[in-house]
Amino acid sequence: MELTDTIVKRQSIRKFKDIDVPEEDIKTIIEAASKAPSGKNIQNWHFVAIKNKELKEKIREAVRVKNEEIVNRMALVDEEKAERFLKFARNFTLFAADAPVLIIVFATDYTPSGYLELKFLGADESLTDDLKGRKNPGMQSIGAAVTILSLKAVELGYGTCYMTSANYAGALIQNILKEEEVFCKDDYYMCAMVPLGVPEEGAKSPGRKSLEEIYTFVK
Ligand SMILES: Cc1cc2nc3c(=O)[nH]c(=O)nc-3n(C[C@H](O)[C@H](O)[C@H](O)COP(=O)(O)O)c2cc1C
Repeated sequence: MELTDTIVKRQSIRKFKDIDVPEEDIKTIIEAASKAPSGKNIQNWHFVAIKNKELKEKIREAVRVKNEEIVNRMALVDEEKAERFLKFARNFTLFAADAPVLIIVFATDYTPSGYLELKFLGADESLTDDLKGRKNPGMQSIGAAVTILSLKAVELGYGTCYMTSANYAGALIQNILKEEEVFCKDDYYMCAMVPLGVPEEGAKSPGRKSLEEIYTFVK
């Protein structure tokens, strides 16, 4: 498949066919992701690909518990907002466990260039916090890897959805994996999940901003 076709064909997939994804294909997809650029080539990622149904259900339950926690606390303050969040969480977090493969994406910290030097020089915290926060290079590297992962999946006939909305359940999910002795590195934290499988037809993607809106050219 031509790269442009692959890019155009990629959509967030939230419904999957009940068709197995061979481990060879998962490896090919993760290997493609491993070619992504990363700040200082630190490759600050680890991908846990789960087929096991029981484990996927445990992860769904962890997300559901966290969703409910937020909804219940929200309802005490604003019932309408709580209801809106509940709808969102039901539609955009729980489906991940239905995919034939659920990939949990882990990241480890990355110290941005100049961060330690600016700290040493006593720079304003707003500047150093900004490097680790809004401009976080570690997360930018993860974004590059997940994007390549998603494109490779399309090339092989699969669909994915890059998901961060369930990150508030990250610690619970990490504990579940630890209990199963699946992935136990404390210096890594869950930063996304990516369901993977053969897509059901009919997925709809929202439109995009115009080129004029997102692009500035200087001659
Ligand atoms: C960083 C990131 C986080 C996202 N988190 C979620 C999520 O938690 N749940 C979900 O259903 N979609 C999630 N999405 C998918 C976006 O909603 C989707 O990419 C966007 O609406 C454009 O649609 P498309 O991917 O089909 O082109 C996420 C996408 C990105 C890049």
